[in-house]
Amino acid sequence: MIDINLSKKKEKFLKHSKINFFSAQNILITGASSGIGQSLAIASANKGKNLYLWGRSEQKLTITRKKCFEKGANVYCYIVDLVDSEQTIYQLDKLLADHTIDLTILAAGSGDIKEEENNLESSDLLFKLMHLNYVTPCLMSNKIAQHMINQHIQGHIIFISSVAGFYSLPFATAYSSSKAGLSRFADSLRIALRKWNIHVTLIIPGFVDTPMSRRLICDKPLLVPLNKATQMIIQAINKNKTHLIIPKLFNYLKWIELLAPTFLKDFILSHLKVKQD
Ligand SMILES: NC(=O)c1ccc[n+]([C@@H]2O[C@H](COP(=O)([O-])OP(=O)(O)OC[C@H]3O[C@@H](n4cnc5c(N)ncnc54)[C@H](OP(=O)(O)O)[C@@H]3O)[C@@H](O)[C@H]2O)c1
Repeated sequence: MIDINLSKKKEKFLKHSKINFFSAQNILITGASSGIGQSLAIASANKGKNLYLWGRSEQKLTITRKKCFEKGANVYCYIVDLVDSEQTIYQLDKLLADHTIDLTILAAGSGDIKEEENNLESSDLLFKLMHLNYVTPCLMSNKIAQHMINQHIQGHIIFISSVAGFYSLPFATAYSSSKAGLSRFADSLRIALRKWNIHVTLIIPGFVDTPMSRRLICDKPLLVPLNKATQMIIQAINKNKTHLIIPKLFNYLKWIELLAPTFLKDFILSHLKVKQD
């Protein structure tokens, strides 16, 4: 009888205690098949942890699954195309009906650079990137936050945006605007969730050495190795940071961008030479 009461108290305490990267037991990660999402998934894997790994490519996700499984984690894989927001939310609803999530990392995302000879990005590309980078992560985080509120979990939601969201990039209108929207949504949600002690951290990378940045043919100033970026993100989660810009120097560039006159910004941005493989 006493034991049951104690374990009930412990259960209540655990549900109400603050979650960090290492104490989280139930972690959902999108984009777990490559780059930043994959690296965070492997870093989080530990004996007894439940990892819900989402990706688009089954083959690549299987590699992450194997590595996490070898470290003792229970791994559940979800092959979902996040461009299809409706199907994604259907899968998420099914997951949340049976499982608890206390940490979620929304890392999936993609960019595309407009071909020089084309006039503008195609409608199809705009639709895909807006859904992948903005609509779906907003819908997912909203659902997960409601789940945390209902379950009295002081959880943590991590968004991976981009410094591209600071700039009006003429060669990547869909990417820069979807990331700008995502950053604003994350910040608004963070404030909305404060009264339930649910934390939100917005990660804003510059260039991180992953398959995505390797596809770009351009100068990549301040390129950060994947391992270093992973450690910085883990630290930011554990310190409950509201946001993290990687590397920090982009903080100062952001202020210069805000203060510069429009004609100068337009001139620089329209002369940037960026291509993609
Ligand atoms: N690397 C950088 O320099 C950089 C800079 C700023 C921001 N970011 C952001 O960081 C995040 C992670 O990027 P990364 O550098 O790690 O790139 P990455 O190595 O290309 O990984 C991207 C991940 O997103 C998933 N993904 C892409 N399209 C998807 C779709 N339609 N449905 C489901 N999943 C999809 C990929 O899944 P599959 O592999 O299974 O297709 C992959 O797991 C992205 O949000 C990106 O915008 C990266």
